Amino acid sequence: MKRDSFGSRFGALVALAGSAVGLGNLWRFPYLVGENGGAAFIIVYIILSFLICLPIFICEFVVGRRAQENAYSAFRDLSGGSWWKYVGLMTVIVPLIVTSYYSVIGGWSVQYLFKALNFAFTSGETQSQMSTMFTDYVSSPWLPLFGHTIFLAVTVLVVGAGIKGGIEKFSKVMMPVLFVIVIGIAIYSMALPGAARGLEYLFNPDFSKITAKSCAAALGQAFFSLSIGFGTIMTYASYVSKKENVLFQSMATAVSDLSFALIAGIAIMPAVFAFGLNPQSGPGLVFETLPYVFSQMPVGGVVAILFFVALLVAAITSSISMVEVGVAYLVEEKKIARTWACLIVFAMCWVVGAFCSMSFGPLSEFKICGRTIFDFFDNMSSNILMTLGSLFTVLFVGWSLKKTDIY
Ligand code: ALA
Repeated sequence: MKRDSFGSRFGALVALAGSAVGLGNLWRFPYLVGENGGAAFIIVYIILSFLICLPIFICEFVVGRRAQENAYSAFRDLSGGSWWKYVGLMTVIVPLIVTSYYSVIGGWSVQYLFKALNFAFTSGETQSQMSTMFTDYVSSPWLPLFGHTIFLAVTVLVVGAGIKGGIEKFSKVMMPVLFVIVIGIAIYSMALPGAARGLEYLFNPDFSKITAKSCAAALGQAFFSLSIGFGTIMTYASYVSKKENVLFQSMATAVSDLSFALIAGIAIMPAVFAFGLNPQSGPGLVFETLPYVFSQMPVGGVVAILFFVALLVAAITSSISMVEVGVAYLVEEKKIARTWACLIVFAMCWVVGAFCSMSFGPLSEFKICGRTIFDFFDNMSSNILMTLGSLFTVLFVGWSLKKTDIY
């Protein structure tokens, strides 16, 4: 049977951009900018993205485009069946771990979209009441599992419909919608009185704020945001033609990802400053600070709906790329039908994700290596396994792949 593939260059591009643009851009990037001193962090982030992460992205793309198979088989077959296949196996397992906890945040977005649709952010609560609303929600044992289940179910439904009929179709419609919404919110946010301080925070660098810690945070964010080191780019690249231009697709993805992160920053920071709030509120920025901002701004109820739609769409287009890595492996290596493969991945990610979700509530005292379950998986995959995956991919292309396989 002929292997499914992207139907067009544009289709591949929006799917790749969809993989890159995600919670990393709308949820993680703004709070990291807030925690690490604003513009100086952004400059370091841009330099590291293009200097270190783009070349790794290109290597992953090269391997996938050449192999035209899932990440595990790509490493195994292009190396002639050596131990590289274990690296391939790692790049299949890591996105499943990431999907599990990513889906928890995706689930929060589902819940917050429902809240926004019920105009929950227009009722004039104080900022601390908004924080309590968030803490009560994430720490409740069952409620977050509802969002987690919906988020994961939509993800596997898209993946189950295939590459051209599911992932490409979904990305072609949703990615433009996502960009339009976030650009619209950014324009609105810039027009708020007092927004200029937010723009200055984003674009007027204070280089004394650069520390080793902020550089490490910028690098980690660049890895996460470009989806490198865990098989997603390799898997998507295996669905493009062998003649596809690697540089074009890689540059276009990196530029879309970076532009989206900056637009997200412009959508969020001026509004936060306009209402005299602190941008350094960490991971709670989007779920605690912003709802308060929405409750204060004119037509904030509508802006809140649009924002949480965008957050959800960004998260789903990324999680489908991660789920596809495992599904492609099960279909091609284990000869399991796509529908069953999707159900297996759903079940695995749901169970691991449920533990991650409960680590904000009933399991908050349970620690692995001193961290909660969520933090342990996030730290292990973002800081260790993705870096290792990237390192091995670069070594693989440099040392193991033949030149003729690269061009
Ligand atoms: N690249 C994806 C994101 O930024 C994982 O959310």
